[in-house]
Amino acid sequence: MTPGIEFNRRILDIPVYPAAATYAFEGDLVKLASNETPWPPHPQVLEAIEAELRTLNRYPDPEKSLLRRRISERTGVPVGRVTVGNGSCEILLAAADAMLEPGVEVVYAWPSFSIYPHVAAMSGARAITVPLNEAGEHDLEAMAREVTVATRLVIVCNPNNPSATALPPAAIDAFVAELPRHVAVVVDEAYVEFSMLQDPDESIELLDRHPNLVLLRTFSKVYGLCGLRAGFALGSGDFRMAVDRVRQPFSVNALAQAAAAEALNHVDEVERRVEQTAIERLHMESELEERGLESTDSQANFSWIALGDRDEDEVVEGLAARGVIVRAGKALGEEGRLRVTYGTRHENDRFLAALDEVL
Ligand SMILES: Cc1ncc(COP(=O)(O)O)c(C=O)c1O
Repeated sequence: MTPGIEFNRRILDIPVYPAAATYAFEGDLVKLASNETPWPPHPQVLEAIEAELRTLNRYPDPEKSLLRRRISERTGVPVGRVTVGNGSCEILLAAADAMLEPGVEVVYAWPSFSIYPHVAAMSGARAITVPLNEAGEHDLEAMAREVTVATRLVIVCNPNNPSATALPPAAIDAFVAELPRHVAVVVDEAYVEFSMLQDPDESIELLDRHPNLVLLRTFSKVYGLCGLRAGFALGSGDFRMAVDRVRQPFSVNALAQAAAAEALNHVDEVERRVEQTAIERLHMESELEERGLESTDSQANFSWIALGDRDEDEVVEGLAARGVIVRAGKALGEEGRLRVTYGTRHENDRFLAALDEVL
């Protein structure tokens, strides 16, 4: 760092978030790098946003009352136990701020979501990472073995980004039951709606049995609102109180609150998107198999593809030169892989055609 103003020492440990590259490409760019959904927001969600525009001279509701009430109605979790954030990432980082400090430990699998290393680096806590198993799944037994008196937080990404695999709620239930109650278990369910191993309501039932369990969910994926930033956590009243204390009160803007509240009224749209994603998943998986490319058992809206001995950089750059942006495994914790988000059929076929040229 250049001499000048001084920063605290932790800054050097905080990794730079590996943002997806954008390439100058003249033509239609196919963006399959950020696990977004390809559909625009529902028309009534757009109307709710427009209606809110006229009152932007006012601060947003710091209590996020309407949205929290809607989430409570939808999930059956009392409103006092619903935390809303500027994306689910804000809640995770706030939880780290509220729970972690030098001398304590956080346990998570690796490779997993690239924001998790921030959690330890920001707080000075020690990160204990546990490798995924051969199938790219969380090894919960190995993770449980890493829990000690120093552990404050365990993060389980289910389905996991970037390996796309998921565990059923019964496995999470048994895992949490085995851990001491002083350990908070945050299950990041950003992609839960896409998992064929469970109904999203099933993990919510686990909250009644485990007061130390927190489920993180987002409006960024199946609801298609990542540009607005809204996510939520279902946990204890204490968890909400702690997270709210460390954040500024107005972190969730008024448009995001209105849009997310309206999006919850359109369960049929969510179901349609989940179905469409499952169809594209089958299509991609069978096309990849035909090309002799292995991928993990995806329960999300993306595939984690093994490239064998092919040069990962060449593949990623070759795809980008053809207007198709995907993520290199190297940037996500495992070399020799590609993470490819499912787009529309047209976009997926453009990826496959570009891949054929590159390989
Ligand atoms: C596992 C996981 N959790 C959370 C997020 C981000 O969620 P949000 O947009 O709600 O901050 C992502 C986004 O890629 C993710 O992959």
